[in-house]
Amino acid sequence: MTQKAQIGVTGLAVMGRNLARNFARHGHTVAVHNRSYGRTKELVEEFGHEGTFIPSESAEDFVASLERPRRVVIMVKAGKATDAVIDEFAPLLEPGDMLIDAGNAHFADTRRREAALKERGLHFVGTGVSGGEEGALHGPSIMPGGSPESYESLGPLLEDISAKVDGEPCCVHVGPDGAGHFVKMVHNGIEYADMQLIAEAYDLLRQAGGHSPAEIAEIFKGWNEGRLGSYLIEITAEVLKQVDAESGKPFVDIVVDRAEQKGTGRWTVQSALDLGVPVSGIAEAVFARALSGGADVRAAAAGKLPGPSATAGAGGADLQADVEQALFASKIVAYAQGFQQIQAASAEYGWQIDPGAMAKIWRAGCIIRAKFLDYIKQAYDKDANLQTLLVDDYFLEAVSGAQDAWRRVVALAAAQGIPAPGFASALAYYDGLRAERLPAALIQGQRDFFGAHTYQRVDKDGSFHTMWGAERNEVSA
Ligand code: 6PG
Repeated sequence: MTQKAQIGVTGLAVMGRNLARNFARHGHTVAVHNRSYGRTKELVEEFGHEGTFIPSESAEDFVASLERPRRVVIMVKAGKATDAVIDEFAPLLEPGDMLIDAGNAHFADTRRREAALKERGLHFVGTGVSGGEEGALHGPSIMPGGSPESYESLGPLLEDISAKVDGEPCCVHVGPDGAGHFVKMVHNGIEYADMQLIAEAYDLLRQAGGHSPAEIAEIFKGWNEGRLGSYLIEITAEVLKQVDAESGKPFVDIVVDRAEQKGTGRWTVQSALDLGVPVSGIAEAVFARALSGGADVRAAAAGKLPGPSATAGAGGADLQADVEQALFASKIVAYAQGFQQIQAASAEYGWQIDPGAMAKIWRAGCIIRAKFLDYIKQAYDKDANLQTLLVDDYFLEAVSGAQDAWRRVVALAAAQGIPAPGFASALAYYDGLRAERLPAALIQGQRDFFGAHTYQRVDKDGSFHTMWGAERNEVSA
């Protein structure tokens, strides 16, 4: 073979294929490889005219088709698949060659892989790539980690295919080992918070403002012209103006309101907890997705937890009494959440923990001993599979009785600039749990728009995807 490739891509699902095409469109010769050859063939048949591709059926031929030092981009599902590809390719490579993981890997995995491959003289570059499939093809934002030497050789190619602002590439060497994937993880955490805030804004405009999704689409369109101008606001307007062809209803109303997640937002919060950094906005967004996805708990709470009474907004006469109510209700939420966590862990790890027994042994001696632990014990005695303490008669009554005062206290804290994150977040949790519809449906729409992550419909089984970039028709996924 005379001509060698400057870069190779293995893993030719849509992201890998689009990255390969992007390199080729920029005049680079691209070696392409996939576990099953069909995808490789398809890529060359469909897009071969866009540039120069060297397809290979075997890993050996693929490696042999690359110029040295070899640059191999891995674009497979993060986790075990990445380790499998590394194990397959590392023995075929020579010192100085580079393996580039462009998936959403956990930065700790990247650090481990980088250290192991360094011992073999290989560079491992964990790189964040953001922008979804369209970005991968037309110019993503790229966040490479790894050694400075690897960036010297790889950087110019990545900068070449990245998005540009005023001619400046959206790609820079972030730092050594896992730094690139760490920054991509935080990017995604911020993405979660941004999407949650937009979803809340939509929900307020709809529920409190009485606007239709189409009207809110116009509002977002207007906002997109101003200081809020951003991709997420732009696509929110697109999602909100979409009408479901089958039912004639707003698209956002036919999407199941359970926001899914692949894990990067959760990792951001886990890391923040380790670092002691209060990423409360990101954490609320991750928890809001988890709450929306908790179908069993939501079903148990549906129609049971009361909403605000008509006089909820009226000023409270007695601050002391109001604060006592807010404290009691928020405390119940904290216990309900903690007990739910114990139940979830018990199910996950097969521990068979009796939650009522935990309440019993916490009644005295421990720091959180409290009178109402008796009621928790009784609640689980009555129903060992209680989904949430909030629907037990005693707690339900307590929270319903407290909620007007609770709302007044949260409103007062906000009005007077007194930080009350515990009260406010507990109340938001309560309202989230009792909501018939959550704006998580909009988040699902956004995810489908930018990442083809699919959604479920309220009126039939299956997974669906709207072809947002084309005719906007819906296909089964
Ligand atoms: C990006 C996105 C991308 C992906 C996320 C979605 O930057 O292009 O963040 O990486 O769409 O993984 O995350 P969830 O599936 O967790 O919502």
